[in-house]
Amino acid sequence: MQRFSKNLSVKATAVVALLVAPFMATAAVDVAHAFKTANVENGKNIFTNGKGDVPACQSCHGPEGLGEDAMGTPRLAGQGFSYIVKQLEDFGSDKRIDTTMNVMNTNAKGLSAQDRRDVAAFVYTLKQPDKGSNLNDVAQLGQPVGKSHLGKSIVTFGAPERGIPSCYSCHQFNGRGSFPVYPRLASQKYVYLVNQLKKWRDGSRANDPMAQMQKVAQKLTDDDIFNVASFLTNADLTTVGNDRAPHQEVP
Ligand code: HEC
Ligand code: HEC
Repeated sequence: MQRFSKNLSVKATAVVALLVAPFMATAAVDVAHAFKTANVENGKNIFTNGKGDVPACQSCHGPEGLGEDAMGTPRLAGQGFSYIVKQLEDFGSDKRIDTTMNVMNTNAKGLSAQDRRDVAAFVYTLKQPDKGSNLNDVAQLGQPVGKSHLGKSIVTFGAPERGIPSCYSCHQFNGRGSFPVYPRLASQKYVYLVNQLKKWRDGSRANDPMAQMQKVAQKLTDDDIFNVASFLTNADLTTVGNDRAPHQEVP
């Protein structure tokens, strides 16, 4: 029996590797090229001043791109370059709908493909902070706050008895991300994390490849969501005694 289940998991991993490996190889070449041809100065200008009818990104995402719980905006600083480009393309084609303020769809449509890469390259270069949200401040906003140690358990081990995989298995240690496909969750804003998990769960966000996130989120209770968000918003990118910097997408 043990042998049987071991075999199964080996097979499953092999299939995933076969599916993903060629994609990752091409993606790596494309990412380096797209990043090299991005105009970071233009990205900075759009972020700081806006462009035409598109308002300055900093007016909602903060001057350093750290996000804002009161507005439900995410931290963009340090997020994967290809991931940000993908989100702007998905907003631009209404594959992802911004149900909070509906503004991101309009914003993305006002940017050219090159602008999207430029602004993504700029936010990728912004310094990511060690911490996301202050949970006392979040509670002041009237948001329920979870238990970080319970969230850590789901992030690290999942909840196999309820069919929940570990977040680690795709988003890596403490949700630090595995670019280009899996975004960084560590130190993301609390309210934004909660909102996204609920949207994956009810299907109002459905731009994930092979519905990977929807399948995970459908198994999460409200408490699970508050717990994982409480842990992730202040999760460390590195482990004690190993300060090796996490994987960077573009050197
Ligand atoms: C009026 C407020 C507002 C402005 C201005 C704004 N955003 Fe946003 N943005 C939001 C909100 C709110 C969300 C979260 C949407 C959701 O909950 O799905 C968001 C989400 C995003 C995301 C998704 C991030 C992720 O982790 O998936 C990206 C990328 C983004 N914005 C980029 C930009 C860029 C680039 C600009 C400037 C061109 C900009 N935003 C301007 C409010 C704004
Ligand atoms: C099977 C792989 C997989 C697993 C397991 C997984 N995720 Fe994800 N997750 C993804 C993918 C892929 C995306 C990016 C989707 C996209 O391109 O928009 C994502 C995106 C997200 C986002 C949106 C981030 C943002 O910036 O908007 C959140 C939040 C998230 N995952 C949380 C979790 C949590 C919490 C867990 C564990 C309970 C988890 N994920 C487990 C694949 C996975």
